[in-house]
Amino acid sequence: MTPYPKLELINLYAGYGEVPIVHDFSTRLPPASITTLIGGNGAGKSTLLRAVFGTVRRFSGQIILNGEAIEHLGPAERLKRGIGFVPQGRCNFPRMTVAENIKMGCYTLPGRAHRAAIDRVTSQFPLLRSKWSEMAGNLSGGEQQVLETAMVLLTSPELLLLDEPSLGLSPKMQAEMFDVARQIAAAGVTVLVVEQNVHGALLVSDTAIVMELGRKFLEGPAAEVRQDPRIREAYLGGNIKETIDQ
Ligand SMILES: Nc1ncnc2c1ncn2[C@@H]1O[C@H](COP(=O)(O)OP(=O)(O)O)[C@@H](O)[C@H]1O
Ligand SMILES: [Mg+2]
Repeated sequence: MTPYPKLELINLYAGYGEVPIVHDFSTRLPPASITTLIGGNGAGKSTLLRAVFGTVRRFSGQIILNGEAIEHLGPAERLKRGIGFVPQGRCNFPRMTVAENIKMGCYTLPGRAHRAAIDRVTSQFPLLRSKWSEMAGNLSGGEQQVLETAMVLLTSPELLLLDEPSLGLSPKMQAEMFDVARQIAAAGVTVLVVEQNVHGALLVSDTAIVMELGRKFLEGPAAEVRQDPRIREAYLGGNIKETIDQ
């Protein structure tokens, strides 16, 4: 077991152009855990995930993966070190088949590793096999989300960043995406997920971080954050007197 957290952020400032959006953000994510990041629209959640993957400007602060500083590395190098990122919204090749999308997801792997990686993700998500020859753009939103997550899992990330995986999905598919996140963490991956389904996310997560105006507002065990009156008021329908259903 590594003595380090999987990911550590220290006083991170990140954003676009000359404007930091994420301010003074610090946290530590232990290995094989699920952390959910919640917060209103525009709070800076996507910007924070992009900063961890290296696709937005870092102004200052440290990003430490497995005890090593990675903030000076580009996204391709961070991918090689074990960070996988599934961005918000659709990010597959809609006019290619599921099979072709999955093969595209292998492009950073050596040729000899493709077969095993494809077998691994198709066993994990049998849905991919059943839709193998279909055009990705013809799958349901939930199926496309599974495909996009699988494309990233082909690279065997140790840290998986998921931006709003359940957005726009039916309640049943949202529940399935939460199961997927749990399965992934149970396989040893550290998951950092941005979620608009706060109730569902808090039920499957170990830790919750609440962001407001680019800053960390609250962090704690998901079960405690669920009971915080401010969180119940702002994100869980405001029924703060409701008995906690644990
Ligand atoms: N590409 C961009 N260029 C400039 N500003 C951006 C860009 N993307 C997002 N922002 C700004 O950053 C802030 C946070 O956005 P974002 O991280 O997407 O929030 P969230 O994911 O919490 O809804 C918003 O004010 C938004 O306008
Ligand atoms: Mg976002």
